Amino acid sequence: MSTARVGLIGLGTVGTGVARLLRERREEIRARTGMDLDLACACDVRRERARELRLPARIFTTDADELLGRSDLDIVIELMGGLEPARRYLLKVLSQGRSVVTANKHLLAESYREITAAAASGGASLFFEASVAGGIPLLKSIREGLAANRVNGVEGIVNGTCNSILTQMTEKGMDFKAALAEAQAQGFAEANPALDVDGHDSAHKLVVLSALAFGRAFRLADVHVEGIRGVSRDDIRYAGEMGFVVKLVAAGRRVDGGFDLRVHPTLLKKHHPLASVGGVYNAVLVEADAAGRLMFYGRGAGQMPTASAVVADVIDAARWLELPAASRARATRRIEAGRTLPMAETRSRFFCRFNVADHFGVLGRIATELGRHRVSIQVVLQKEQRPDGVVPVVMLTHPAREADFRKALSRIDRFSFALEPTAFIRVGAD
Ligand SMILES: NC(=O)c1ccc[n+]([C@@H]2O[C@H](COP(=O)([O-])OP(=O)(O)OC[C@H]3O[C@@H](n4cnc5c(N)ncnc54)[C@H](OP(=O)(O)O)[C@@H]3O)[C@@H](O)[C@H]2O)c1
Repeated sequence: MSTARVGLIGLGTVGTGVARLLRERREEIRARTGMDLDLACACDVRRERARELRLPARIFTTDADELLGRSDLDIVIELMGGLEPARRYLLKVLSQGRSVVTANKHLLAESYREITAAAASGGASLFFEASVAGGIPLLKSIREGLAANRVNGVEGIVNGTCNSILTQMTEKGMDFKAALAEAQAQGFAEANPALDVDGHDSAHKLVVLSALAFGRAFRLADVHVEGIRGVSRDDIRYAGEMGFVVKLVAAGRRVDGGFDLRVHPTLLKKHHPLASVGGVYNAVLVEADAAGRLMFYGRGAGQMPTASAVVADVIDAARWLELPAASRARATRRIEAGRTLPMAETRSRFFCRFNVADHFGVLGRIATELGRHRVSIQVVLQKEQRPDGVVPVVMLTHPAREADFRKALSRIDRFSFALEPTAFIRVGAD
């Protein structure tokens, strides 16, 4: 049995878990998989990490260039995060034909084509299971378990911070600010939560997931992104009365003329498989043409779930090293760019809340304006007047073109009876 020599850069939350699994489970992993994984070098700018992990001094360095300069490492794990110098490190390792395992969704989403092209030209393998939905073995299932399928769509809750905030808002009737403060107090949200609550982290994961699902390289700019700051507890309540829950959903699907990739708050029917996914949990639905609809559920982040996915990748990378050179070359390929539909051309159903003065004829004028823009109404509910005099009128529309709907709203919001801009949330498919 050959031994794969592993280098690890970044001994923070995930790296610490990975170092522990590699060292404490070495025998079990060898017995179960036949792969012997030797943590030969670990690097972190913080010297105290070596002490905390009781790493022998001979395998620890604070200088990543020293680790990268070692020619005896077969696999390099990048868990330092961020864009630079992580990108430079990955490109260097891949160009040397050595395997890379990373969980860095932000970097992959920014530079997917460049990094996969470097892997293809270096004849190197690249694994990134932990970059999407943490501990859930999702990418491997798509890559291997669904290899005979054409994937038509992926749809998921992939950010635990947003999901726990929306869960609190739904269950306890909290507003966004209070739910965010609670998530921060419990350690589920960062002090600067922008990457999560503004939807960017979900978009990073959607770019990576879509690349695997559709075999195309997308850019972050291809994804329409909206976060959850604008979701109000009133909308969650009104949606609930209509049989829906509000979730931040990342969805990618094949459509006529390309792909539709988006992250935004979404109304899901209460019986939808994603509707009951609460708190910090993640879940992803995959629509595969032969296998049908599959659901993956589990912990989307955290030290040991994420480390579990990283070590599974290291085992795959070690298996790859045992392939004959010709098979390796066949398995690395450049992927094509994907064409995405501009959001204005997409179609959705909309939940909207018009905030109007209590005047005669208001409903008729809203309906007329929507109709003029080819938006037809499915349900209308007029809610009780608020103490500030605003009357919320809640509607569900039939599917409409985004551009038409937006034009209708911009006209309606200019009427004198419109006291506040109209709020809206798109409705997901059943
Ligand atoms: N945490 C999760 O649950 C989770 C889940 C899925 C994916 N991920 C991804 O996994 C990666 C790691 O996340 P994490 O939460 O473990 O991050 P983390 O706790 O911040 O750990 C990163 C570690 O790398 C060190 N570092 C930064 N730059 C370095 C350099 N140039 N050379 C050597 N060490 C360096 C950091 O030191 P300083 O602290 O001094 O900068 C820190 O100790 C990220 O890409 C993240 O997106 C994390």
